Amino acid sequence: MKAIVCTKYGPPEVLQLQEIEKPAPKKNEICIKIHATSVTSSDCIVRGFKIPKWHPLRLMMGLVLGFGKPRNPILGMVAAGEVDSIGEKVNRFKVGDKIFAYTIKSSTKMKFGTYAQYICIPEDWLVLQKPSDMTYEEAAAIPYGGELALYFLKKGDIQNRKNVLIIGASGTIGTTAVQLAKYYGANVTGVCSTANHELVKSLGAETVIDYTKEDYSKRSERYDLILDAVPMLVADRKKSKLQAKSALAVGGKFMSIDDGSPTPNMNDLVLLKDLVESGEFKPVLDRSYSLAQMVEAHRYVETGHKKGNVVITVEHSKN
Ligand SMILES: NC(=O)c1ccc[n+]([C@@H]2O[C@H](COP(=O)([O-])OP(=O)(O)OC[C@H]3O[C@@H](n4cnc5c(N)ncnc54)[C@H](OP(=O)(O)O)[C@@H]3O)[C@@H](O)[C@H]2O)c1
Repeated sequence: MKAIVCTKYGPPEVLQLQEIEKPAPKKNEICIKIHATSVTSSDCIVRGFKIPKWHPLRLMMGLVLGFGKPRNPILGMVAAGEVDSIGEKVNRFKVGDKIFAYTIKSSTKMKFGTYAQYICIPEDWLVLQKPSDMTYEEAAAIPYGGELALYFLKKGDIQNRKNVLIIGASGTIGTTAVQLAKYYGANVTGVCSTANHELVKSLGAETVIDYTKEDYSKRSERYDLILDAVPMLVADRKKSKLQAKSALAVGGKFMSIDDGSPTPNMNDLVLLKDLVESGEFKPVLDRSYSLAQMVEAHRYVETGHKKGNVVITVEHSKN
């Protein structure tokens, strides 16, 4: 099968398209024929081992992923596709099911490897039937932003917050957080640049503030919850925390998407799927690339200015 192999940490050019052996499922595993995956900001951090020295996750990242080079050289953590074959003990899925999956189940149960035509994962990981009227590309854009946005909004007690401000409202987590905060009944203000104003408005934000022209904290509005969703590679968290302090309402909470280690879970994935089906959440797609264009896709995602999600369409030969 074709896969993108990352033989060492480094710039996007370390990613190479190679022919490798197709995996076979173990007793409890399904083998997914991948039709779409996504290039996340986290993939760029892993590929470049670009986590700051002070960051508490750096040691864990080294231990789990490998220090000198990635232990598993195929990156990628989301997949949408069809069940190609199953192990003898699998009973949740059958061959031909159209599914989408997040291959991070917890900090110990995770498996990269979706930058490929096939991947095998246990059937009881985060795998669900794909919403029927969605493309594989759209389905591949659900889990990463969805799980992370839900984790932080819930941690911020979103059910009890009226005025919510999302900084970085046009990114993967941002575009999802705006829609989910609306679902929970909040009045949402999004912070993004001029080019993304209409996008963020169209997702339901009542107010959009352009950070290139204005400092949101100088307005008189006070927020019950502020979520800084600017990606680590371009964020200045110290400055952001200071700025947010003066804009918080009494009892308000500030959080950045780098606070804590979210544990993805099935209940949240089921909720995200339900919200997609009820039309309350629609993942935003930005650019789409092929597997062979992975270097280009990483260069773009690494800028920290994608709009929503960047997806990869994985092609298979007809025979
Ligand atoms: N806590 C954890 O364990 C954990 C796990 C996974 C990920 N993460 C975090 O989540 C991040 C990924 O988030 P993501 O995928 O949503 O990022 P993303 O899609 O790359 O975010 C891109 C968006 O950020 C906006 N942006 C950039 N600079 C900005 C600024 N100064 N002010 C406002 N908006 C700005 C850009 O808008 P403009 O183009 O309009 O500037 C762009 O639309 C990772 O980098 C990491 O920091 C944390």
